[in-house]
Order: sequence, then C-alpha cells, then structure tokens
Amino acid sequence: MSASIIDGKAFAAGLRERIGVLASAFEAAAGRKAGLAVVLVGEDPASQVYVRNKGKQTIACGMESFEHKLPAETSEADLLALVETLNADPAVDGILVQLPLPAHMNEQKVIATINPDKDVDGFHVVNVGRLATGLPGFVPCTPLGCVMLLKDQLGSLSGLDAVVIGRSNIVGKPMAQLLIAESCTVTVAHSRTRDLPDVVRRADIVVAAVGRPEMVKGEWIKPGATVIDVGINRVAGAQEGKSRLVGDVDFASASTVAGAITPVPGGVGPMTIAVLLRNTIVAAHRNAG
Ligand code: GUN
Repeated sequence: MSASIIDGKAFAAGLRERIGVLASAFEAAAGRKAGLAVVLVGEDPASQVYVRNKGKQTIACGMESFEHKLPAETSEADLLALVETLNADPAVDGILVQLPLPAHMNEQKVIATINPDKDVDGFHVVNVGRLATGLPGFVPCTPLGCVMLLKDQLGSLSGLDAVVIGRSNIVGKPMAQLLIAESCTVTVAHSRTRDLPDVVRRADIVVAAVGRPEMVKGEWIKPGATVIDVGINRVAGAQEGKSRLVGDVDFASASTVAGAITPVPGGVGPMTIAVLLRNTIVAAHRNAG
C-alpha cells in the first residue's frame, strides 16, 4: 500500500488566497491595510530567509509588512522598547519577534512584553493559557497548520489516538492541546519515552516534531495511520558537497505503511507562514472591532 501525499504547499496557497479576500475586506472597512511587524535581531541565515519569505507573502496577501532588522549586539532594553512602540502603533496588528534571539537576551521576557492581542505567534503566556483553557486567542502557527491539514485529510478527529513526538513550547505542547480540543486521545512522547516504536504503533495520528532526521521508521507506523512530519533537517546528500532536506520521519519506509503522509519539503513547512498571515488578519479584525 502506498500513502496519499498531503500537499501542504497547495493547501497553504489556497489559505493565502482566502486570507487575501479577508485582507481586502479589512482594507475597505478600516481604510488601511492590516499590518504585520517582524523583528529580526542578528544575522542568522535561516532566520533571514524566513523573514524575507514572511515579508513577501504578507505583501502578496494585501497586507502591510513592517520589517525591523537590528544588529546582534542590540541591548535587550532597546529590543523591549521597540516591542513597546509596536504595541502602541495602531498600524501594527500583529508582532512577531523571530527566534532564536542572541544569547544575551531573555526570550521569555521579550515575548512577555508583546501585547497578547498582537501576539500572532501565540507564544505569550496569556495565549498559552487561553489555548489550554479553550478560550479564543492566538495559537502557534505550525501546530495550527498541522491540525488544518489533519482535518482536511480526515474530517473529524474525534476519538482518534494521536501521538505527538516532541514536547517543545512552539510545536509539541500546543499540538497536544489542539488535538485534545479535537477530542483525540493524546500521548506526548519525548527523548525519555520508553519503547517509542510501541507507543507510535498504537496511533491513528503521528505528529513528529523532534528535529532528528528520519528517526521515525515505517515499521513503527500503524497501517493506514496519518503521519504529519514537522521536521526540517538538512543532511548530506548523495553527491559530495550537496545537501538535502529530510523530515523527522523516514519517508521511504513510512509512506509504504501510512494512509497519508506529509512530505518534506512541501508538507507542513509552507503552512507556518500561511497560518501566521491568517492570525494577522484575525488580529486586525479583532483589534479594529
Ligand atoms: N523561529 C522559527 N520558527 C519560528 C516561529 O514560528 N516564530 C518565531 N517567532 N520564530 C521562529
């Protein structure tokens, strides 16, 4: 049996199209475009690529992109002052501070300074608490994108056994909360989990977010399960000097057993920015209304 491939790239393109319609409606009603501010501190190459793509897609959806690029040696006080300025700016509906921050900055303190109603990343403790208690708020983009793909593939998730591998604040924990809200029976596995293959074998839904290349093997997967691979790992390619991207799931073996699976690249990856733009237009409507 060969799994269906979940096309996150196409789903994200459709989502951006719907966001574009909402962005035009917002502009017509509010007399201004919805605005997303992105703050990048330092010159991490991967972060620079993310920020450039965010800017391009924000504009393509008919929203305003405000980019703030600060040198790596910026003081924490100066970054906090910028966040306060963005909090007070009525043209800014969403604020994203790109992580990781340089080592001399306290990430939690920076996130805590963002107005929770502009926290389109969903990282502020107020939004983490809202998600945990079922109140409306902002949900981290990558896990929300995963749930959108799962519901598109499976319809109702109610009663399904789900295993989330990884317990990060950005993906694993919010993913578990979202799956609980969809009435799944959720297990969160991590580096100390005993007999991970056996835990994974019970799951109708497997979400892998550990950052270890091709760790989840096909023989761990229950036949017909839906596999969501959040990993993006760069590994050496077959040719000298070439690299390639792989997920946390061994796609070659898992795709012979699973019912459906996200590829890397082209699966979960494109969903993150699309959901960020979705959160921004939601913020604009909420904050203007
Ligand atoms: N760095 C990698 N992914 C993300 C993300 O989703 N949000 C922020 N703020 N930083 C990131």
